[in-house]
Amino acid sequence: MQRVTLKDKTFVPYITSDKILASVKVMAQKINADLSDDMPLFLVVLNGSFMFAADLLKEVTIPCEICFIKLASYHGTSSTGTVTEMIGLTEEIKGRTVVVVEDIVDTGITLEKLVTLLTKKEVKQIKVASFLLKPEAYTKTLKIDYVGMEIPNEFVVGYGLDYDGLGRNMKDIFVLDKK
Ligand code: IMP
Repeated sequence: MQRVTLKDKTFVPYITSDKILASVKVMAQKINADLSDDMPLFLVVLNGSFMFAADLLKEVTIPCEICFIKLASYHGTSSTGTVTEMIGLTEEIKGRTVVVVEDIVDTGITLEKLVTLLTKKEVKQIKVASFLLKPEAYTKTLKIDYVGMEIPNEFVVGYGLDYDGLGRNMKDIFVLDKK
């Protein structure tokens, strides 16, 4: 694997596609074992999760539904601050098992906002599957049920993750070269 340059930054090889796929397979096996009777609805959070979701769901063999959402933030009144909105959810989710599919959990702020929105919709239970987790950066207490790999607090690209819009299409994961 070669170093890659995206705009003004250089990234070095970090996690190979083979290792990624092996880890995704293990995640899917756990989900298959845990949720076989739940008919879960997988809620794929775009954009970053598209590649992980495709690989994960090819290995998920239990009956399930899949839906793609986006999160949008806008500023409400000055008293309420930033409001997060979920776009694209058309399925009825009341009473269902929902599996949130995330590419990466960093501070956990995004995930917490999404879980708050889902809780208001009276789902039966929420499970979270994130391919990457940065434990040193994570500030929340919410349990991440399925994690592919834990990584240090570094900036990574590839496998759906971008730097300023670039790098999402790379099948391996690269880390910012700090040199
Ligand atoms: P959080 O709200 O801090 O957990 O951030 C989550 C979002 O930040 C992810 O869904 C990504 O879009 C982005 N993000 C966090 N860390 C990285 C990274 O290392 N590379 C690319 N995007 C990242």
